[in-house]
Amino acid sequence: MSTGKEMVVLGASGFAAEVIEAAELAGWIVTRLYDDDAAARNREVMGRKCVGPISDFERSAKAAYIFAIGHNEVRQRLAPRLSAAGHEAVAVVHPSAAVSRTAVISAGAYVAAGAFVGPQVRVGRHAIVNAGASIGHDAVLGDWTQVCPGARVSGFAVLGEGAFMGSNAVLGPHGVMGEWSKLGASSFANRSVEAHSLAVGVPAKKINL
Ligand SMILES: CC(C)(COP(=O)(O)OP(=O)(O)OC[C@H]1O[C@@H](n2cnc3c(N)ncnc32)[C@H](O)[C@@H]1OP(=O)(O)O)[C@@H](O)C(=O)NCCC(=O)NCCS
Repeated sequence: MSTGKEMVVLGASGFAAEVIEAAELAGWIVTRLYDDDAAARNREVMGRKCVGPISDFERSAKAAYIFAIGHNEVRQRLAPRLSAAGHEAVAVVHPSAAVSRTAVISAGAYVAAGAFVGPQVRVGRHAIVNAGASIGHDAVLGDWTQVCPGARVSGFAVLGEGAFMGSNAVLGPHGVMGEWSKLGASSFANRSVEAHSLAVGVPAKKINL
């Protein structure tokens, strides 16, 4: 099913291939890519060409877009510039994701193949819910957050702005990840992860790098 609507993908790495495929399956026509890495210029991902740096997109005619950029800080830095330029961030939800009819998926968010997003969940702006991740009922994912493949956010849990959960990480029921905190891959935090900190292991402990 095509919506007949065109969009642009920002980022031309391997992650872009997944985002492009999801967007196309969701009915979008992906016309082109932009990436600030000079090495990505003219690169083709899923048959779509990287035509220039993101500043070129900023100056181009208004268009719908989504990020395929894994760095939460980069999405946060770029999005205000792009909305000031009149571009429209759109959410992409892979058709195989199971998303509750009462969940809210904000502009610019990406929900990948096989993900579960439960009732009354809020997925913030430009958040990423990657392949096979699950977000339990009433959970809140703040803007710029990222839940990597297979990770589990339990019911009523909250991810503060920019928080990151590595692949297969688990946050317990009512758990809270502070703003810009990170939980390592396969780690388990039952209650909380301090803002701007990194926690790893089972149970997760804060480490300093
Ligand atoms: C937590 C993380 C961000 C740290 O990465 P890093 O800054 O490169 O840190 P290092 O690999 O140098 O590890 C630092 C220490 O933490 C430990 N550590 C790192 N990740 C860990 C994890 N997930 N669980 C347990 N211990 C971990 C390392 O063994 C090391 O311990 P040491 O100092 O005793 O040797 C990273 O390991 C991680 O889990 N990233 C998530 C990756 C992911 O899921 N990506 C998905 C992409 S879609």
